[in-house]
Amino acid sequence: MTVAKPLPHDAARLHVTGAARYVDDIPTPTGTLHLAFGIATIAAGRITEIDLAPVQSAPGVVAVLQARDLPFANDVSPSAHDEPLLSGGTVHYLGQPVFLVVATSHLAARRAAKRAQITYQKRDAILSYEDAMEADNRFEDGPRIWEKGDAGEAIDTAPHQIEGRIEMGGQEHFYLEGQAALALPGEDGDMLVHSSTQHPTEIQHKVAEAIGRPMHAVRVEIRRMGGGFGGKESQGNALAVACAVAARLTGKPCKMRYDRDDDMIITGKRHDFRIDYRAGFDDAGRLAGVDFVQMTRCGWAQDLSIPVADRAMLHSDNAYNLDHARIESHRLKTNTQSATAFRGFGGPQGMLGIERVMDHVAHTLGRDPLAVRRANYYAPSVAGGLPAPHAAKPRPPEDISGQMMPGEDLTSRGSAGEVPEGRAIEAPEGVQTTPYGQPVEDFILHEMTDALEASANYAARRANVAAWNAANRVLKRGLALTPVKFGISFTLTHLNQAGALVHVYQDGSIHMNHGGTEMGQGLFQKVAQVAASRFGVPVEAVKITATDTAKVPNTSATAASSGSDLNGMAVKAACDTIRDRIADLLAEMHQTDAAAIRFENGEVHAGGKTYSFAQATTLAYENRISLSATGFYKTPKVEWDRIRGQGRPFFYFAYGAACSEVVVDTLTGEYRILRTDILHDAGASLNPALDIGQVEGGFVQGAGWLTTEELVWDGNGALRTHAPSTYKIPACSDRPAVFNVALWDGANREDTIYRSKAVGEPPFMLGISVLMALSDAIAACGTAYPALDAPATPERVLAAIQRVRDAD
Ligand code: MTE
Ligand code: MOS
Repeated sequence: MTVAKPLPHDAARLHVTGAARYVDDIPTPTGTLHLAFGIATIAAGRITEIDLAPVQSAPGVVAVLQARDLPFANDVSPSAHDEPLLSGGTVHYLGQPVFLVVATSHLAARRAAKRAQITYQKRDAILSYEDAMEADNRFEDGPRIWEKGDAGEAIDTAPHQIEGRIEMGGQEHFYLEGQAALALPGEDGDMLVHSSTQHPTEIQHKVAEAIGRPMHAVRVEIRRMGGGFGGKESQGNALAVACAVAARLTGKPCKMRYDRDDDMIITGKRHDFRIDYRAGFDDAGRLAGVDFVQMTRCGWAQDLSIPVADRAMLHSDNAYNLDHARIESHRLKTNTQSATAFRGFGGPQGMLGIERVMDHVAHTLGRDPLAVRRANYYAPSVAGGLPAPHAAKPRPPEDISGQMMPGEDLTSRGSAGEVPEGRAIEAPEGVQTTPYGQPVEDFILHEMTDALEASANYAARRANVAAWNAANRVLKRGLALTPVKFGISFTLTHLNQAGALVHVYQDGSIHMNHGGTEMGQGLFQKVAQVAASRFGVPVEAVKITATDTAKVPNTSATAASSGSDLNGMAVKAACDTIRDRIADLLAEMHQTDAAAIRFENGEVHAGGKTYSFAQATTLAYENRISLSATGFYKTPKVEWDRIRGQGRPFFYFAYGAACSEVVVDTLTGEYRILRTDILHDAGASLNPALDIGQVEGGFVQGAGWLTTEELVWDGNGALRTHAPSTYKIPACSDRPAVFNVALWDGANREDTIYRSKAVGEPPFMLGISVLMALSDAIAACGTAYPALDAPATPERVLAAIQRVRDAD
């Protein structure tokens, strides 16, 4: 069977030879026009005067548009209709698009955009957590608060208490391919849009609104992105809408791509967080109660900030069983880029809060942080009756119609789901639950941690590090092993659905399409392996095709790591429908049972006769059997109330653990990652090669977030780190010198596609082990707790060393 084989990425050869086609590579028709935004140069205020005559008269300029020139909706928000494509006079952040230049070339458009004369009336920008709290400038009415037990009482009556604060920065996505879109006007007001997007249906929805046409008049296509990482869930809306509006106006194809600096200045990034914590615990470090106050700067528009902040709350337990917990979340509105989805979607920030608590508790007690973590783990899951891998039963396809109406906010990830009043969603008595009441039934981190401790030689290296640090004053080493438990499903429950369209041609070749998008993660190859396995053919028989809203409608963003879970199941359903039709035909011809017909090794075995798959499909065609089918899937079991923070937002959890060792130069604050060992749970992997790639990439990106990647805004709200010269993503040479990555070999206990698990985001949080190892190394410089903030740049590490040394 093709599933579970470590096949290379389907486009690997195209990627490395430069032949893979991205939006910017699509040959454009003669006469294609190029777009650029003119952007605001202040963070907050009003435009009092705007002179665009110099822009209009610049070489190559065809048109210049302002908000008042837009024919229909001036909105590119995925959630709250609070994000105009072009400012209507109010400026909300430095970088906000104010006008749109349409010109004969990319350069002409960019050059012309710089010539505008704009006069502003500035007002004080709200930039910091303090500014926003003072002005009570926030999304939603007040803080969101979830409670389990009585945290205040539990903390106060515990033998020990700590309190502290951790600040963590945001993160630039730094996809290698910048944002891009191309709109081709058709007849009768139709529009074809190529967009580098994780969310084609949302592009379709926003373009339709902006050109005043129903969604059926707009078709969106995307073959692949050169990385998305969440940054192309909603941030591509502005480019696609701008292109469509300009194409409608001029009747010409219109194309837009951001230059890297513009991309960084205009688009949203990961949310930065400040988390204040208080915890009470016993001598073993077992938490009695914990209290978190999470603040996040959401930027100027709502975008996806509500579900991001929710997910931060949902991960403030990570792997730890908290009987008494209180989580308060402030979603603050600031005059900065509108923070958006980024791998982990708030989960990493919430998780870092509790990991800091574990580190702080261990330091306070003088205990090994791993022992403290293990003392707080959820109890092992009760074994018994786990179904074998690959035992998932075929599910009859469901009708795709009537599942979702095109309309307001339904396609986004940003609106709130609520459970109808009176519906019981509480877990039964006596079952261990998360702070939000979801039973934890599949907790495998005890076994995983045992295995990683052994393979990484944790105990011996812990002793070696102590010996090294006792003997060396300048270079200090640090070691940390941290776990990950990450919830899989969109927390906006209705998004957990997917569709597929599969055609089998007379010659036995297969055309596969589904609602997921490819951004490098290998989704298409994994799902092609599923299709090949259902028909018993090699993966080469399956043609992977571009995501297209005209083939599969009403899709969710490829996000929340659920791409293969959802689309794998939808494709499986479509394939099984076709396969069953062929089987029924052959069963009738051979007077045998359809269930006895086998599809394997490119052949179909029926009643003692063997057909090639192509012979069987030709036969089906000649007998007038439809060889085309849709498939549909919706995730079972998920239902919760996000206002109360109660229920089951996640179908299941994905787990992982990482052990990192670092060395720090205490004279300069510079450091290296010497070694990282990872054990990650991808369930029964659909493709171990691709999954290991996701684990390696996720870890490095997570470590980058917490170490070298620093976003700096100045006092005027200008982003000062808007190019690779000042914003440092990890280089190849920054990966751990020794890097051992393995997959945990176990089936998902829930009935997912071939019992696999989602793997896109969870490994990102393995990067937390690096920050904790740095904290360990710095702690060796004295007796005080380092309280290391992120990103732990060499400057911040040096300052922490100084604090620790000065305290003694
Ligand atoms: N891997 C690569 N190479 N490029 C990406 O852009 N995005 C990540 C992750 N892995 C990303 C990636 C994010 S944010 C998500 S949500 C998942 O892939 C989405 O894909 P999946 O649902 O198919 O895992
Ligand atoms: Mo990923 S942040 O869910 O696109």
